[in-house]
Amino acid sequence: MGRRVDPTVEEQIPGLLSEDGTWVSRRLFFDPDLYEIEKHRVFGRSWLMVGHESQIPDPGDFFLSSMGEESVLVVRDNEGKIRVHLNSCPHRGMPVCREDRGNTRTFYCVYHGWSFGRDGSLAGLPNQRASYPQDLDKSKLGLFAVPRVETYCGLIFANHDAGAVSLDDYLGDMKWYLDTSLNRREGGIEVLGVQKWRIGTNWKVPAENMVGDVAHAPASHSSIFQIAPGDPSSDAALKSVLEYGRNVALPGGHGGTFRVYPGDDSEGRLPGELALRKAPGVGEYLASIQAEAEERLGEVRKHIKIATCTTFPNLFLLGSNFTFRVAHPRGPTKSELWSWVFFDREAPQEVKDAMRKFYTMTFGPGGLFEQDDGENWEGVTHGASGIEASQHPFHYGAGLEAGPHPEMPGRVSNVYSEHTQRNMYLRWQELMLQP
Ligand code: FES
Ligand SMILES: [Fe+2]
Repeated sequence: MGRRVDPTVEEQIPGLLSEDGTWVSRRLFFDPDLYEIEKHRVFGRSWLMVGHESQIPDPGDFFLSSMGEESVLVVRDNEGKIRVHLNSCPHRGMPVCREDRGNTRTFYCVYHGWSFGRDGSLAGLPNQRASYPQDLDKSKLGLFAVPRVETYCGLIFANHDAGAVSLDDYLGDMKWYLDTSLNRREGGIEVLGVQKWRIGTNWKVPAENMVGDVAHAPASHSSIFQIAPGDPSSDAALKSVLEYGRNVALPGGHGGTFRVYPGDDSEGRLPGELALRKAPGVGEYLASIQAEAEERLGEVRKHIKIATCTTFPNLFLLGSNFTFRVAHPRGPTKSELWSWVFFDREAPQEVKDAMRKFYTMTFGPGGLFEQDDGENWEGVTHGASGIEASQHPFHYGAGLEAGPHPEMPGRVSNVYSEHTQRNMYLRWQELMLQP
């Protein structure tokens, strides 16, 4: 049971955004009543990414994850099916699993000793005859199953809403873009992780950054452009972003920013990319898989490199940096970032090692970009919430509304347009208005 929500807040939701999403109330980034409603209307009915299949290859493999604020247990059962259970004992609510990951036959609740099978069914309880001389219907006392679990490219998504559209429909054209990172090669991807860190920000701040905020890069990340050894000058790098970069807004609040580089992908244009491609085997590897990528994805998509994108609400993929992450809400002004690094499963080990180092240097918890971004996101959250400052909405007016593109789905613009953010907040509002 959440905290009581001021009933007048619901009536205020229509006024939080201007009609086209250009003006957005700062309350979205700190208001505890809105946050409470989001738990039900956004996180209670969206497909949420909880992990990757390669984390649990065998029966009995499990890991703990999170849907919104709630802990869930992701486990592969004896038949190989992936199940997601609430990590809350049906008896008194004690978490039945307190390990981050492992392999087990049963989940044992340490409070009164009930145990549960991999499929979540109640397997046994101590002193059953003395405790329940009457018949006990164990079938009603298993772990609570999250009703919908589906996968895409090995990513496991779960949804609390039994009547939700399929994951395939939910992702829609976002798949066309995600494929450029996750589906380049036969065999797909494998992952390492999870790295986790906390940050004092509302979850929507990283979401709007990842959905297509390229405008912050020249200002926030300028020092990286200056120090990255052997890389193009910052002027050349930023020119290449404008020349090759695009922002896309998609139905469902999804969107992102990507680059369409000509050539065979053996060149680097941004800080670190050049060094990465000079690491043993990497440039050659990236060039060598272009033919396969073209066969699988087509001529246009083989050139697409996702910079950052948001699958609504809180899954972010940074394709050029070989990582995806989730911003789990932990309060109106707190988030926990969970981050995975991924590679083509068939890539040589030396290439995987170089990609892992590149991720660590850029967007790992101590990464150069991550440090800049984290400071901004905490600053925005803090700066939004002052008594006086919070009266004034944020402006998302950059870029005119974008139109369709002849070769790519969605509404496509240059990288300095905020139409992807307007699109995301309008979707957020649409969900918040549905009781
Ligand atoms: S709370 Fe789990 S057995 Fe009682
Ligand atoms: Fe950034």
